Amino acid sequence: MFEMFRVEKISSFDSPGLQPYATMRRPAAHETLGIFVAEGVKVVRRLLESHFAVASVVLPEEWLDDFRPLLEVRPETITVYLAEKKFLETLVGYSMFQGVLAVGKIPPPSSLDDILQNSPRPRLFVAVDALTNAENLGALVRNCVAFGVQALIVGETSSSPFLRRAVRNSMGTIFQLPVIELAKLGLRHRFKAKPHATRSTLAECLKELQAHGVRCIAAHPHAHKKLLSQADFSGDCCIVFGSEGDGISAPVLGACDEAVAIPMPPAVDSLNVGAAAAVFLYETARQRGHC
Ligand SMILES: C[S@@+](CC[C@H](N)C(=O)[O-])C[C@H]1O[C@@H](n2cnc3c(N)ncnc32)[C@H](O)[C@@H]1O
Repeated sequence: MFEMFRVEKISSFDSPGLQPYATMRRPAAHETLGIFVAEGVKVVRRLLESHFAVASVVLPEEWLDDFRPLLEVRPETITVYLAEKKFLETLVGYSMFQGVLAVGKIPPPSSLDDILQNSPRPRLFVAVDALTNAENLGALVRNCVAFGVQALIVGETSSSPFLRRAVRNSMGTIFQLPVIELAKLGLRHRFKAKPHATRSTLAECLKELQAHGVRCIAAHPHAHKKLLSQADFSGDCCIVFGSEGDGISAPVLGACDEAVAIPMPPAVDSLNVGAAAAVFLYETARQRGHC
C-alpha cells in the first residue's frame, strides 16, 4: 500500500518541518535527532529509491515532475516543499547548484552479529579509525560500494558517514552499505540496539571479528614488511584505514593481524585515504576474480 506525498509551497520559513534545512551547518543537532540531509538531484533520487525513511524533500517547482514517480511509490507520506532556488538558499545559508534537498532518517546501526550473519563468504569489511574528514569518509564509502564491501565499521572516534558532506561525497552510495557506528551502539535508548551490541572500541571490535575467522589487515603506509602485491585478500578480511593526520592509532594497529603498504617513493609519505581505499579494494576484488 503506497502513501501519496503532500506538496506545500513555501512562502515563509515558519514550518517546523523546515528546521533541519535551516540547521544544515549544525550537524550535531541532526545527529541528535537521528536525521541527515541529502543534497543534489542524484543523491536525493538515490535516497528515494532506497529503503531509508524519508521525512521531506525541498525542490524548485520545475523539478517536481521529475521526482513524482519516485515520490508516488514511497511507503510513507513525504512532505514536498516547493520553493525558488534563491529562496531556499536564504534558508540553508549557502548557494546551491540544483536546489534539491531531502531529509532522511538514519537507520538503527547494524550490530556485528547482524553483519556476520548477513555477509556471505569470503567476507569483506572495511573499518575506519579516527577518520574525521566527512568528504574523505564519503569517498571511502563510494569505493566500498563500488568494490563489494559488505559492511563499514566506523570507529568510535570517527565522524559519522551520515554527515551532509559525507552523504554528498558518497553520491548516495551510503544508502546501500550496512554501517556499524561504534559511537552510537552505546545509545541504546535511541537506536534500540540489541543488548549484546555493546562493543565500544574499534580495537575490541576487530578482536571479535578475528574470533569469527576474519583477518584484520591494516592499510598502513609505514608497513615495511609487506607490500600490497604480497598480501592475501582471498579469505574473510576486514581492511582498516586510518586518519588523515596520524594514520591508524597504536591500539587499533596492535589489534590487526598484519599491516600492508602501497609502496610510495621517498618524497611522498602517503596517499589520501579515499585513494588508498580504492587501491586496496581494487586489489581485493582482483584477487577474488571480480575484475
Ligand atoms: C593520509 S594517510 C595517513 C598519513 C599519516 N600521516 C600516517 O603517517 O599514517 C590516511 C590513511 O590512508 C591509508 N594510506 C595512505 N597511504 C597509504 C599507503 N601508501 N599504504 C597503505 N595505506 C595508506 C592509511 O590507512 C592511512 O592511515
